[in-house]
Amino acid sequence: MEKNIHKYDFTINKENRNNHKKHGSLLIWFTGLSGSGKSTIANAVEQALFNKGIHTYLLDGDNVRKGICSNLTFSQEDRSENIRRIGEVANLMMDAGLVVLASFVSPYREDRERVKKIAGYTNFVEVFVNTPIEECEKRDVKGLYKKARTGEITNFTGVNAPYELPLAPDIEVDTTQLDLEAIVDLIIKQILGKIQKK
Ligand code: ADX
Repeated sequence: MEKNIHKYDFTINKENRNNHKKHGSLLIWFTGLSGSGKSTIANAVEQALFNKGIHTYLLDGDNVRKGICSNLTFSQEDRSENIRRIGEVANLMMDAGLVVLASFVSPYREDRERVKKIAGYTNFVEVFVNTPIEECEKRDVKGLYKKARTGEITNFTGVNAPYELPLAPDIEVDTTQLDLEAIVDLIIKQILGKIQKK
């Protein structure tokens, strides 16, 4: 099928869009357990970027799974397909000139590596939200850990499904050690240089 598909080079390209927006594109990928604080941090980072006039979009597991990935389960195979789709969507959004924030458990190293490849290594920042599972479980905002412990939910990351630790994340934070403001500052400092136009 793919051999009969020919890419059309449209007149307005990524560089034009980045020049228009006065900043580069980037994918900031938040990975970590459910309840670790990924979405809270991504939300606050997006606000900070937005207030600086940067064009952003936030992709989040709970939202995406109600739409483009609504046919996917939490089996390993479906999680891989979930992350593949998000990687491709994020890539289109980067082509549109945006700074994309993606917040997904993304427990498999191979899936995260594939996203890096799709996005391009220099356009990708991996943020590992390394909050201890005891704390995530104590928070249990959605009551899912409880359901996983009683067996009502199977394949729950950290309880009865694996989480493969990032080996060399660009940024690692633990929400029990740093407050939200400090975490946002740390992330913003690391990424501004990557999106500034020379
Ligand atoms: S991923 O593994 O495919 O990256 P994703 O980030 O999209 O997961 O979705 C995770 C969210 O779905 C969690 O924050 C949680 O609210 C919910 N969820 C429901 N069932 C599970 C499960 N079995 N494992 C992990 N998260 C689950």
